[in-house]
Amino acid sequence: MVYTFDLTGKTVLITGGYGYLGKGITESLLWHGAVVYVLGRTREKFLNAFKNHEKLDESLFFEPCDIADTSSIQKAFKSVTEKQGGFDVLINNAFYLQGSDPLKMTDQEWEAGVDGTLNSLFRCTREAIPYLIKSSAPRIINVSSMYGMVAPEFSVYKNFPEMQNPPHYGAAKAGVIQLSRYYASFLGDEGITVNTVTPGPFPPKPVQEKKEFIEELEKKTSLKRIGKPEDLGGTFVFLASDASGYITGQNIVVDGGWTIK
Ligand SMILES: NC(=O)c1ccc[n+]([C@@H]2O[C@H](COP(=O)([O-])OP(=O)(O)OC[C@H]3O[C@@H](n4cnc5c(N)ncnc54)[C@H](OP(=O)(O)O)[C@@H]3O)[C@@H](O)[C@H]2O)c1
Repeated sequence: MVYTFDLTGKTVLITGGYGYLGKGITESLLWHGAVVYVLGRTREKFLNAFKNHEKLDESLFFEPCDIADTSSIQKAFKSVTEKQGGFDVLINNAFYLQGSDPLKMTDQEWEAGVDGTLNSLFRCTREAIPYLIKSSAPRIINVSSMYGMVAPEFSVYKNFPEMQNPPHYGAAKAGVIQLSRYYASFLGDEGITVNTVTPGPFPPKPVQEKKEFIEELEKKTSLKRIGKPEDLGGTFVFLASDASGYITGQNIVVDGGWTIK
């Protein structure tokens, strides 16, 4: 018997699957045979991201879901289950933030950022467990950030204050790594694996236009380049597949070597 990366027969839910990194992850999952439901707030954004995709309405679907709202999450999971008979993999990828200034951040901004980075992921995890238990190879994959592992180097932002990484983001992303370990331990008896993927610098297109800032980021990596969404897909395919069935509670860092120094 050989365990492969083939995702045929698996249904994967990915929050924020039409975002910058989510789209690349979704494309990799589809290529490897998964049925993918992109959970998000805006069908138009989904259709815009995948308008010419050959798998659209075949194995690629949109499901309305606001991760800020428990009842919306419950509705989405129930609806996918009614349509698909259940699901095997939940990828907690979406996030939202408010505020960035470490000196002037309001309590409300702090709470909103932690809510969008950590609490929302907890809500989705809690609501998904009763469904995942019914899968023969259930998986939860959480998305953290290198700033959940190391502090930002502020010299990088000296000439780019608008790009400064906010304090609640990294604190909450560190919580994501630990929450994965917690649920990996708690759900082991159920056979549900829970792992984290930690991306490094993957600045989106508008940020890539700030050439000097990108050079600063590139210098900080060992591979001397920023990441592309397609650099991430393989890790999610692996963690969703039968090939990773004995891996749980781990954090796979995809950062070009940013965090090793
Ligand atoms: N890009 C990087 O350099 C980088 C580095 C490390 C980690 N990450 C992590 O990677 C993940 C994806 O980031 P990204 O760069 O692809 O960001 P992005 O393009 O902004 O995507 C975020 C996604 O989250 C969705 N979202 C926001 N609020 C939501 C809500 N209330 N309910 C449902 N969906 C919601 C957004 O949908 P709407 O457009 O509809 O709001 C969007 O699809 C995040 O967890 C991020 O922290 C990114």
